[in-house]
Amino acid sequence: MRNTSASERASIYFDNAATSFPKPPEVTEAMARFLAEDAANPGRGGHRMAIRAERIIDDARAKLARLVNGSDPRRLVFTLNCTDALNIAIHGVLGDGPAHVVTTVLEHNSVSRPLQALADSGRIELTRVGCDGAGFVDPDDIRRALRSDTRLVAMTHASNVLGTVQDAASVGAIVREHGALFLLDAAQSAGIVPIDVEAMCVDLVAFPGHKALLGPTGTGALYVGERCPAPAAIGAGFKPWREGGTGGDSSSPTQPPVLPYFLEGGTPNTVGIAGLGAALDVLDRMGGAAILEHERRVLETILARLVDDSRFTIYGPTDVARRVGALSINIAGLDPNDAAAILDDTFGIATRPGLHCAPYCHKAIGSFPAGTLRISPGPFTTDDDVAALLEALDQVADAGM
Ligand code: ALA
Repeated sequence: MRNTSASERASIYFDNAATSFPKPPEVTEAMARFLAEDAANPGRGGHRMAIRAERIIDDARAKLARLVNGSDPRRLVFTLNCTDALNIAIHGVLGDGPAHVVTTVLEHNSVSRPLQALADSGRIELTRVGCDGAGFVDPDDIRRALRSDTRLVAMTHASNVLGTVQDAASVGAIVREHGALFLLDAAQSAGIVPIDVEAMCVDLVAFPGHKALLGPTGTGALYVGERCPAPAAIGAGFKPWREGGTGGDSSSPTQPPVLPYFLEGGTPNTVGIAGLGAALDVLDRMGGAAILEHERRVLETILARLVDDSRFTIYGPTDVARRVGALSINIAGLDPNDAAAILDDTFGIATRPGLHCAPYCHKAIGSFPAGTLRISPGPFTTDDDVAALLEALDQVADAGM
């Protein structure tokens, strides 16, 4: 057997917050089967292949609606990813005239950037609420930020930098009492942290299919709750972010106001959704709670080794009880980009350094502009992976001194 360099070896994967890996074989099989047997355009023809394709899409739609306890699968809109879902939500409810919006410093750029662009163009006023030193937003700070003209509160469920799970139910109750809409970015939580749009007073929840849901990239979803304005391409109402073919009512000069198609202009990622449907069955068998417990145990092992070692700075809480599997650290004397490059090149370990598309979060925790080294375990992280990571971090930290 010939020697392989790190660049040729499969990575030890600690970048699940970016996208989960590996994908279960059932996902690959479902996508290959769909391509071989059913790859027609759903809803665009009455023929049997189109009907089969639509059935696969609708089956995944129903599973995802159930995942967030949505009452009506027609309100579950397939999107290209979580960013797409967030843009559909933000532009959908802020399309009509001036409004005040509350958000937080923990947001990913997929929330921060569309909101900032709307603020810069004078279409909204934006209040950005801070977090405490551990990376938690105080729901009372959200309450204090609300104004009589606040239309939307947009908040992450779990920080992609710190993994901190926010008290979304308390925020939801506050927003509901006030009468505004609550948009939850569940990019890092959907699949492993329970989401109940009814109990948590969530009006819009956006999530990717390719992270904790274990599906392929190019998939995501938005659940549009009943308190959101009714779809309306013109006049007052929820605005479409993408307009085009829906497969139904081609005679309508504008987007037909029927969910989910109103917000799904264009051919969907049918192959990806077929894979996502299979991934949801795997997730169901594995159990989101069990996966979260596994990721927390991994974090605990890593933290136990690093927390009292002065070569490492740990960001966020050392208690893992309110974390998903994302941990930000820094290594004394090393830029996080260099640390990640050494981990990859020398040890074959995949992590994500830098600002993680969340610059306000890094400003809040004092790691801007270099950012941090993010380590994100997933459902398939093994004890051997953790041992290899800890050994590598020890050697990299020695090099940094
Ligand atoms: N949003 C993803 C991350 O945090 C890509 O890495």
